[in-house]
Amino acid sequence: MTAVALDGPVGAGKSTVAREAAKRLGFIYVDTGALYRAVGLYAARQGVKDEKADDYKDKVTALLSEIKVEIKLENGLQKVFLQGEDVSEEIRLPEISMAASAVSAIPAVREFLLELQRDIARENNVIMDGRDIGTVVLPKAQLKIFITAQPEIRARRRFEELVKKGVETDFEQVLADLNRRDYQDSHRATAPLKMAEDAVLLDTSELDFEGAVNKVVELTKAKM
Ligand code: DC
Repeated sequence: MTAVALDGPVGAGKSTVAREAAKRLGFIYVDTGALYRAVGLYAARQGVKDEKADDYKDKVTALLSEIKVEIKLENGLQKVFLQGEDVSEEIRLPEISMAASAVSAIPAVREFLLELQRDIARENNVIMDGRDIGTVVLPKAQLKIFITAQPEIRARRRFEELVKKGVETDFEQVLADLNRRDYQDSHRATAPLKMAEDAVLLDTSELDFEGAVNKVVELTKAKM
């Protein structure tokens, strides 16, 4: 099996690039952020929303014994199910992005999702995107890529993506949320976002979509 670990901050193009590269390579694309989003959504639905509260961590941890998160592939596209319900669309809402980032800082949540991610890579050729894939989830991945771009460029892309989906927002808000989430994701104690020592850096600030996909495909083929 070949595993490609693709990590990076919000809006670096991880999911769009990984999805297309996986398609061209015949690999399965796994979006691990969706799993944290599903947990964030469940917590929000149960009314556990105050991320600043002292008991937030304990309350979320207590929910883990009842949460059922699954990944299913439908026509090559990843769908995420929460308690049997397809939540693939709902988890993309901006407030769920923030909730995902908050729950992802809780060690018990990371532990809860770890084996699920590793199981997929055991049975399939994968491109897996996230924050700690190269450092924690798949430390022996044949290829590790850290994909990034300047914050304003990432925020612009994210903003345009949300507008296209009809989500009402403004650029400054998107940029502020992105900076906050990146700060939170890279400063937590457990499995923070950081580039693995043996990762290849891919800066997409000046690289278009096609260029980034080609680079990932080329790097992967060299490892197969
Ligand atoms: O990739 P994303 O934006 O969908 O991820 C949502 C949140 O989940 C992100 O802010 C941090 C967290 N996350 C994580 O901690 N580890 C991963 N492997 C993937 C996502």
